[in-house]
Amino acid sequence: MIIASNFKMNHTRKSTQEFLDKLSTVSTEHTIRVYPPCTALCANPIVGAQNGYPAVEGSYTAEIGLRQISEFGIDKILLGHSERRQFGESQEFIARKFDFYKNENFEIMYCIGEPLEVRKQSKEAVIAYLKQQLQGIDLEYERLIIAYEPVWAIGTGVSATIEEIRSTHDALRELTNKALLYGGSVKLENIAQICAIDNVDGCLIGTASWDVDNFIEMIKRV
Ligand code: PGA
Repeated sequence: MIIASNFKMNHTRKSTQEFLDKLSTVSTEHTIRVYPPCTALCANPIVGAQNGYPAVEGSYTAEIGLRQISEFGIDKILLGHSERRQFGESQEFIARKFDFYKNENFEIMYCIGEPLEVRKQSKEAVIAYLKQQLQGIDLEYERLIIAYEPVWAIGTGVSATIEEIRSTHDALRELTNKALLYGGSVKLENIAQICAIDNVDGCLIGTASWDVDNFIEMIKRV
């Protein structure tokens, strides 16, 4: 299983270090990933960047690119998160980022997920929506991990149901043989049940992962 923590805009440099130090005392057979904010990036094999501009460096105010990310020896990145999409990142732009970091051989955690109005329509509408978010994405890319995160489940405390996760992951499995993670209000109480679903290869966790003790406990429950 892959168990990943997306810090979003939480934690500082100091608290990220404390988090990673404590996490390093835990031995687990699972693959762990941590995506801290860019100010707290550090040389640690489980750390990835939450974002990256599709260029080595240049005049892109407030962005970070390959030069800044790889200074830490980091070769992992999270792309396509719904919060970035809500900030206005188009599919075309995300696909450009994907290609850029793919060419640099990064491990890419690629996020997709439908809004509530689409979920309410039908299962077919959900799959059609997710397929649009996979446009321009090489589903054969060796270092690809896909995270299915329904927008309405992110940060709301209301996870998708086991049946919703199962049927969506089954449909995604027909499109790719890459690892399929679920994200959206994963917590201590539901992580074991979610990870036990066929075609769920792990979880991408926001809120419930920011407390390191809780994150460690979640890893242990998988
Ligand atoms: P959440 O966030 O666990 O707080 O719902 C998940 C995510 O956005 O990756």
